[in-house]
Amino acid sequence: MNPFSTTTAFPIQSEQYASTVAASKRVRWDIDRDVIRGRDFDMDHKLLPDSISGIRQFEFLDKPETRMLSQIQGRTYANMFGLVERFINCKVLELSRHHCTGDQVALEALIRFSDEELKHQELFRRIEQMIAGKMPSGYHFVAQPNEVASAVLSKSTWSVMGLTLLIELFTQTHYLKSIEPDQECSPLYKDVFLYHWKEESQHARIDELEWIRVNALMSPEERDRAVDDMIELVMAVDGIVRAQAAADLDYFLKIRGGAFFEENIARLHEGVLAAYRWQYILSGAGERRFQKVLRSLTTDDQLRRIEEAIAPLAALAEPVEKATNRAQPIHVST
Ligand SMILES: [Fe+2]
Ligand SMILES: [Fe+2]
Repeated sequence: MNPFSTTTAFPIQSEQYASTVAASKRVRWDIDRDVIRGRDFDMDHKLLPDSISGIRQFEFLDKPETRMLSQIQGRTYANMFGLVERFINCKVLELSRHHCTGDQVALEALIRFSDEELKHQELFRRIEQMIAGKMPSGYHFVAQPNEVASAVLSKSTWSVMGLTLLIELFTQTHYLKSIEPDQECSPLYKDVFLYHWKEESQHARIDELEWIRVNALMSPEERDRAVDDMIELVMAVDGIVRAQAAADLDYFLKIRGGAFFEENIARLHEGVLAAYRWQYILSGAGERRFQKVLRSLTTDDQLRRIEEAIAPLAALAEPVEKATNRAQPIHVST
């Protein structure tokens, strides 16, 4: 195989794409046969591990309350993946057109990526239905996948690929470091993210290849504008996260009933928002692999602009870092 087919201005690393195709074939799974296997959720279990939910900071919650908040956060966690996979898949299909009349191995890698994201979206819809059947009514997932996809896709491909790599890296770290070793989480929930992780490993490799390829075809001015786009995308994710944290807390307080001290309600709002910012933005921004690629594609000034935009979000998330004993760098230049 020619490792550098040159049908475009940028050499395509066919061998790299070929290895993702081989891995994709090797790990391929089916929603019913492999993941669900006729099971349902047992609501005696937590869904999201404490090390992701940041729930241990709320020492005033009793065991059923922490379990309930873990289940609400876990439901949102699955829905958030269904949400981002809509725009990720749109972008992957768009990028695949570049390879249609070029490297067919790269094309296959992207088509498999797209096919897998469609399957993942179906999986997360199924999970939402199953969990909805086990929880009281009133839960609300605020963001609309198609609206979010339209807004995200109006930004430059460079910025969308950066955000996509960030997401697809934290997916893997959350599974390996938190979900897999957790002893209290639902076995079915753990399997959902085990199988999801198996296919996400290939996606992150393709994100990196495509981000670097797209970057190589841009002018310095285009890249500079793309950095602004990336900052706007991160702020848009933060807007979604803020709205969902508030909706999830309202739902929790409603189904839990009774009253909390004002001070504890304020702590819940602040703590859940900080946890969500860590989950969906900061843990990915702190990934060493993400930082390495970002640093290789940006100037010092561009990197500083990104850092300064993220810093206020990180400041709020710090208490959660301490409370859950997670050691994750959150500054891209460190
Ligand atoms: Fe996925
Ligand atoms: Fe993915």
